[in-house]
Order: sequence, then structure tokens, then C-alpha cells
Amino acid sequence: MPSKIETRCKVNDQPRTLHAYPMERLLDVLREQLHLTGTKEGCGEGECGACTVLIDGKIVNSCLVPVAQVEGGEIKTIEGVAVSESQLHAVQQAFIECGGAQCGICTPGMVIAAVSLLEKTPNPTEGEIRNGLAGNLCRCTGYMKIFESVVR
Ligand code: FES
Ligand code: FES
Repeated sequence: MPSKIETRCKVNDQPRTLHAYPMERLLDVLREQLHLTGTKEGCGEGECGACTVLIDGKIVNSCLVPVAQVEGGEIKTIEGVAVSESQLHAVQQAFIECGGAQCGICTPGMVIAAVSLLEKTPNPTEGEIRNGLAGNLCRCTGYMKIFESVVR
């Protein structure tokens, strides 16, 4: 049985030292150790995007990332997206206004993917929005409300 290791990283701009087995999934460490339960588990095998977070600005499926790989990394979860305690990110606000969330399981991953897309491509075409969200599946909305949210 391997031993737990310390992994130092930043999560939502806060320095953190994680204590976990090297191959523990980042998803589980975020949810169970840091109580950042906004990051969801859907498939658990890299297919649905419910567990999407940003590591060093890149979109990743946290169910596929062993915690040892985030040493020195900067992680952003849905809890770190809002502008402040009292002000949501514009993408979060748009999802509310356009009805882009129903059951909400896919929503944190969708919002993270949309934030990442809009940071790189501020005025995306419909095709760019479809590509930007291609790794995120939704079982509820039929996607149109989600696209409208990102356009908003
Ligand atoms: Fe990670 Fe589905 S739970 S991609
Ligand atoms: Fe339910 Fe997308 S809102 S899976």
C-alpha cells in the first residue's frame, strides 16, 4: 500500500497542502478533503465533463487527474469563479437568466468550460461555442439554453 504524500498547490488562489495517496483522483480530494463539492462526478471516466476544473488555465477532467500531478499547480474550481461573495461571474449570471441549468449536475463544468472559452475567445461564433463545450454533456437542457447563456 503506498503512503499518503503531501501535494502543494493553489486552489482558487489559496495555497493548499493536500494529503492524499498519489493516485487519488483530484475530484475526490477537492470534494472530500477541501469540501469543494461544486465539482461534480458524472461518469467518472472522462466522458461527461461534470468534474471540469482549470489547472494552470487549462480545462481538465478532475476524475482523470491523480493528485500527485497537481504539485505546484494552480487549480480553479466553480467555487473560485464568482467575482466576489456578492457578485457572480457574468457567465453564472447568464446561466441563471437564460435557464441554462436544470438539475445542475453538468452546470459547474459547463460554466468553467464557458469561462475558459470566453477568456480565450471573447466573441465566439456558434461553432466555437459548440467546440468549447464539446467535452461537457447535459442530460436535461437540450443544450439550447446553455448556448443562449454563453451567447449572453
Ligand atoms: Fe469526470 Fe465525467 S466525471 S468526465
Ligand atoms: Fe441536468 Fe445538465 S442540467 S445534466
